[in-house]
Amino acid sequence: TRDLAVAIDGPAAAGKSTVAKRVAEKLSYIYVDTGAMYRALTFKAIENSVDLENEDLLSDLLKHTKIELVQEHDGQHVFLDDKDVTNGIRTNEVTSNVSYVAKHARVRKIMVERQQKLVEKRGIVMDGRDIGTHVIPDAEVKIFMIASVKERAERRHKENVDKGFHSDIDELMEDIRKRDEIDSKRTASPLVKAEGAVELDTTSLTIEEVVDQIIAIVNQKQ
Ligand code: C5P
Repeated sequence: TRDLAVAIDGPAAAGKSTVAKRVAEKLSYIYVDTGAMYRALTFKAIENSVDLENEDLLSDLLKHTKIELVQEHDGQHVFLDDKDVTNGIRTNEVTSNVSYVAKHARVRKIMVERQQKLVEKRGIVMDGRDIGTHVIPDAEVKIFMIASVKERAERRHKENVDKGFHSDIDELMEDIRKRDEIDSKRTASPLVKAEGAVELDTTSLTIEEVVDQIIAIVNQKQ
């Protein structure tokens, strides 16, 4: 068998990262969460009170920012300028602002260059919004994962409740809708299904079922 690149794209909270992580584990591949990189920049921009509409300032900030994804025993950690921000990048404040940062073409250009450096070796699962279209256009396996807004909000709600966080289904549905809209309507590499991508509607599937379907597709390509 040969090592492949698996690109997983789709709208917010469709379960991409959970599935991508498990697929990578099963195949002993590296997992790269590109959303975490946009979240890390957003976290830093908010911390430094940078105007999120200012493309010049944000791309300059990114040039002077180190973002690392490090595999540790309890999962992937995100380091921003050597500081562990794994939890900090998941707050509502970052989540509701990240799409404004991610819509700038020059920010995306730098991010994509950094992400492509990680793909020089195959044996990788990468998830995001533009992986199959821009980051790894020649990926052997491309998946476009979708689920209804209601299902996605309910999954997020359950996660929040399990973690003991405040959670409101209507707010979650609104956030997800808003983020999908900004991500799909931006001019710079909007969220679209890549040519040749396999669409998986996970609304009525379990995580294991989705993982198994992707592994089956990978096995066919090997
Ligand atoms: O995947 P996650 O929900 O953590 O991504 C957060 C945000 O980062 C997305 O809503 C999108 O605005 C942006 N993003 C992107 N391109 C990627 C990954 C994430 O624009 N490849």
